[in-house]
Amino acid sequence: MVSLFLQGKENDYSDCDSFLLLNFVGKMIKLFKVKEKQRENVENAKKQTTAELPLLKVLSRVHGLRLRFCHAAAESSHGPILRHPDGKDLEAHVELCNKRREEACQSSRHWSRRHAHMAFFSIYIVNKFQRQIGYNLVPMIARGLMLGPDQPVILHMLDIEPAAEALEAVKMELADSAFSLLKGVLATTDVVEACNGVDIALMVGGFPRKDGMERKDVMKKNVAIYKAQASALEQHAAANCKVVVVANPANTNALILREFAPSIPPKNITCLTRLDHNRALGQISEKLNVPVSSVKNVIVWGNHSSTQYPDANHAIIVDPGSGRERSAREMVADDNWLKTEFQTIVRQRGAAIIKARKLSSALSAASAVCDHMRDWILGTPEGTWVSMGVCSDGSYGIEPGLLYSFPVTCRKGQWSIVQGLNIDEFSRARMDATARELAEEKLMAYSCLQVEK
Ligand code: LMR
Repeated sequence: MVSLFLQGKENDYSDCDSFLLLNFVGKMIKLFKVKEKQRENVENAKKQTTAELPLLKVLSRVHGLRLRFCHAAAESSHGPILRHPDGKDLEAHVELCNKRREEACQSSRHWSRRHAHMAFFSIYIVNKFQRQIGYNLVPMIARGLMLGPDQPVILHMLDIEPAAEALEAVKMELADSAFSLLKGVLATTDVVEACNGVDIALMVGGFPRKDGMERKDVMKKNVAIYKAQASALEQHAAANCKVVVVANPANTNALILREFAPSIPPKNITCLTRLDHNRALGQISEKLNVPVSSVKNVIVWGNHSSTQYPDANHAIIVDPGSGRERSAREMVADDNWLKTEFQTIVRQRGAAIIKARKLSSALSAASAVCDHMRDWILGTPEGTWVSMGVCSDGSYGIEPGLLYSFPVTCRKGQWSIVQGLNIDEFSRARMDATARELAEEKLMAYSCLQVEK
């Protein structure tokens, strides 16, 4: 029988072709480690393994593996065991993969390959509106725009029961697209199955804001949804799962999720303000008639709402030829525009798109989700920061614990708030105003949940 637990550590399995299988091998290794170290925990560990069975079945189908269950007397062999159809020991297979891993680690793609285990993620799609983002997002991910061009992925797509058939159609289209990076698709209406073992959770779904609806109307519906999502992720996602909340009110939904999923590290729970960040880059690029790729380091402070503060004071324009950097503010040479029109356009862009399209932004939102995750996991380019809604540590005088958008740089899967930026009076007032709105939203969310805080 196969001694899976002897073969390595979970996070070391990085051979791309085999990582689906190895991820589960890794989980079994964890299981046996629990068994070795704390015998009293064996029953819990068994339960954990059983909870993974539906996904194991999917994975075994994907890889053409035979799934067998055995409860042999030997110390090492309880729980599900995977074997190759040709009867070869999985052990040999794992050894082969470990050899390939070593080769891969020597390559220049060392880091991303070592983190192949992050390629599991789930997409939450709740209704027509949200399907718009999800529908745009899945091909982007399957083409490697989120995790890189050589990173295989599995999608776990969740939708509500009435949309199950439409979700199945998305799955069919994904198959028809023959995406080479896509190693498996789980389309389900079962939240437990969807969250099972995921390393990345893209919380796209929520109750949608419709034309004329206030964000606050949406909150009531969404905090309850996010409380439920939190407990599903808490119980079934990978312990180090990285989460981005997209559905509005994004900052407060993320805060609720953090509150009700205390075992997920708070630093792993973020919300999307990259869409606003990209909108700000786009506006500066149009104003100066320069390519958007030459604009960097705008900041979106605070809430993903109309109180956000898009700040171009520290933004830079890079000359594509010489690489020379110049201050965007100096090049714009119109502080009045930066303080008025630029503010209004970026802050109101979501509402303007809803008005024009009769639907919320989808293509740009999906693209921003890819940017957010890619930079978080693979790192921000040297000398560049991006905006992310993260847990405030008190930087720039923002109440600790608020889910607030800051300028961040990312390295090895960790974000850090950019420190030491000069904040003028105009900026201070706006940064505080959006923080106040977030504090109010937090209170309102708790009152919706009837939780005293
Ligand atoms: C956006 O910024 O496009 C959306 O968050 C708008 C909205 O409120 O749904």
